[in-house]
Amino acid sequence: MLDTHPACTDALKSRLEHVASLCDGSLRKAAEAWPPERPAPIWTENGSWYRQPEMWTDWTPGFFAGQMWILHDLLGGDAFWRERAEAHSRSLLPRRFDRDVHDLGFVFLSSYGRWLRFLDEGDPLRTHVIDTLVTAATVQSYRWNGGGEHKFIYSFNGPQSLFIDIMMNVRLLFWATKNGASDEVLDRAMEHSRSSAKFLVRSDGPSLGDEDGSVRHEAIFNTDPGRGEFRCLSTQQGYSPFTCWSRGLAWSLYGFAYAHKMTGDAEFLEVAKRCAKFYLANTPESGVPYWDYGAPKIPEEPLDSSAAAIAGCGLLVLSQLGVSEEERASYVDCATRIVTSLTQDEFLGPVQDGEEGLLLEGVYHRPKGWGVGGAVMWGDYFFLELVERFLRAEVEGPGL
Ligand code: GLY
Repeated sequence: MLDTHPACTDALKSRLEHVASLCDGSLRKAAEAWPPERPAPIWTENGSWYRQPEMWTDWTPGFFAGQMWILHDLLGGDAFWRERAEAHSRSLLPRRFDRDVHDLGFVFLSSYGRWLRFLDEGDPLRTHVIDTLVTAATVQSYRWNGGGEHKFIYSFNGPQSLFIDIMMNVRLLFWATKNGASDEVLDRAMEHSRSSAKFLVRSDGPSLGDEDGSVRHEAIFNTDPGRGEFRCLSTQQGYSPFTCWSRGLAWSLYGFAYAHKMTGDAEFLEVAKRCAKFYLANTPESGVPYWDYGAPKIPEEPLDSSAAAIAGCGLLVLSQLGVSEEERASYVDCATRIVTSLTQDEFLGPVQDGEEGLLLEGVYHRPKGWGVGGAVMWGDYFFLELVERFLRAEVEGPGL
């Protein structure tokens, strides 16, 4: 029998096993309706899984395959999920050459990265899976704004744009450089992380809304030849350029914790701890934040359960790094409050009528009104990862 996380009580364990079995049911229906030949859905509309006919950007399909890999693990090596997880992962293979997005870490860590955990040394498939991950990481590193004063992997908006979400994608680059990618890929991941820390993770200061550890979604730089200076802050999914978008904070917390885990760089640990401190100080007792910490009508604003799930995973990663005993206890306590809240019926789609997703109260893009209040594919994935992190004392693998 596998050990659970030390904070996982018997009562929590049975609740988490219940969630895994609920997910088994809801994901079976989704997998039937959305086979590997059909691009995966993104959020639920009136309870039903939905995919935009015209994509804004395509960053989420790996999370569908990823949930199947996690269920394969949690349900004791279930062959049904193994077969589907592999088929859905394989369907993403052409994306390894995709130069139009900054999201290859999301796409491949949750699919091929999860797959690698189940391939023993000597299995011929290991080479294929590792090569795919290293190729995707290398291709991701080509979105490089390295000509100016500040260097970073640029967002799908163009070379002027640095997003906080990319910190989760550079996990792939950090992992790949230990598995065959070039030193240049590592240099780019390091430079990118330093630029993100400098511009997107705020310190107490005179600018509107600055508070230590709060995070901004986007920074814009001058791309005129020979220039490159910082111009302004911006946002896409957040409330404003000067407020802290909850999911961005969660991406930053987890991304910097992993960057430190892979490199030992002290700055990255400090940044992750500052993000965690902001999260702990500013999030309701439930551990589930509103969609943006600066949204004007809190507490009448939507929550973002996906941000809570991501932050819970990031806090557990951080709790295993070089932090004090007091910090470790506070991170585990917050992650436990998050998982306890998210496993209440009000958040669980399968116990409601007509809900196809697992975790309700997610948000994709509040300013555009997309995916507000229902399930979002990454919310289900990181919720299941959080469940896994409590049910398994050791969760290791690419990006984890
Ligand atoms: N594009 C990543 C996010 O919406 O969080």
